[in-house]
Amino acid sequence: MDPCIVDPEAFAQAGLPDARPAAAARTLLPGAVLLSRYACAQSEAIAALIDRIAAAAPFRHFETPLRGARMSAAMTNCGEWGWTADRRGYQYCARDPDTGRPWPAMPRAFSDLAEAAARAAGFEAFHPNVCLINRYAIGARMGMHQDKGEPDLRQPIVSVSLGCPVIFQLGGMTRSEPAQRVLLEHGDVFVFGGPSRLRYHGVLPLRAGADPLFGAQRINLTFRHAQ
Ligand code: SIN
Ligand code: FE2
Repeated sequence: MDPCIVDPEAFAQAGLPDARPAAAARTLLPGAVLLSRYACAQSEAIAALIDRIAAAAPFRHFETPLRGARMSAAMTNCGEWGWTADRRGYQYCARDPDTGRPWPAMPRAFSDLAEAAARAAGFEAFHPNVCLINRYAIGARMGMHQDKGEPDLRQPIVSVSLGCPVIFQLGGMTRSEPAQRVLLEHGDVFVFGGPSRLRYHGVLPLRAGADPLFGAQRINLTFRHAQ
C-alpha cells in the first residue's frame, strides 16, 4: 500500500513521537513532492521561533468575504509580507492589520529550511518572502482552495507540518476534480509547484490527538514568494 494513502492504523499511530530519519523525496504527482519527516530535527527550534513571532504578531482568526465567517485556523505571518483576509477579500499586506506594525522578520532558520526543501523537491530558485503560520485546534479545517494570489507562479509553495497529523486533500486544477488524501505528520514537508502549483488543496478537520511538543494542535508553515 502506498504509505501516503491514509489507512486507519497508520493514523492511529501518527500521534506518537517519531524519531525515524527523513525519508527520500516522493513525487505524488508531477511537481507535488512529499519530504517525510524532513523538518523533524528542527521542530523544537521552530516551535521557539513561532512563540517569538506570535508574541509580536498574535494569532487571530481572519474574517472572510464569505458572509464574514471566520476561518477556523488561527493565523499569523512573518516575512516581508503577510497573507490576510477580511470581508473585502484576501491580500498580502506589508503590515499586520491588527497592530499596524510590519510583520516580524522571517528567521533565517525558516528561509533556509524552505529553500533547502524546495531544492530537494527539484525547485532550485525559491525565495520565500512570506511565511503564513496556520494553527489548527482540534476540529479546525481548511476548505479546498487554490494559492493563486502570488504573481510569480514559477515559485513553488513549501508547506511544513508540525504537531498533530492531518489529512491533506490534494485536488486537481478545478474544484470538482477528485482529491487524493495524503496523511501529513509531524515534520513532513510538502512542496507543490510547476504543474501542481495551482492544484486545489485543503485539510480535513483535525482529529483529537496530542503531540509531545505541540499538544492538541497542528501548526502549518506555508512559505510563498509574494509580490
Ligand atoms: C494552506 O493551504 O494554507 C494550509 C494547508 C495546510 O494546513 O496544510
Ligand atoms: Fe493553500
